[in-house]
Amino acid sequence: MIWHEFKIPEREGVSSIQVDGKKLCLVYQSGQPHITSAKCPHAGADLSQGWCEDGKLICPFHRHAFDIETGKGNPGQGNYINTYPTKQENGSWYVGITKPWWKIF
Ligand code: FES
Repeated sequence: MIWHEFKIPEREGVSSIQVDGKKLCLVYQSGQPHITSAKCPHAGADLSQGWCEDGKLICPFHRHAFDIETGKGNPGQGNYINTYPTKQENGSWYVGITKPWWKIF
């Protein structure tokens, strides 16, 4: 697991961050950041353009909803998004990314 620093936005809501050249979705809610993949598994919409409702990230295209803790899609959708662990250390926030084996060598 490699930890990358990221900045908490000034306001709560849904935005995006760049980590290791990859765009991820940042849901900042109730003082807590949640980081997920940014591409909707349904038809590829940018989830960082969506919004958060009752602990679910809502896709702006066809409104599929994903749990911001587990990434699980609502029942009936049959899909999910990746979620990434976060931690706070010495006043900075970090997101943990597992480096795929093909990038290690
Ligand atoms: S592209 Fe996200 S719900 Fe269709």
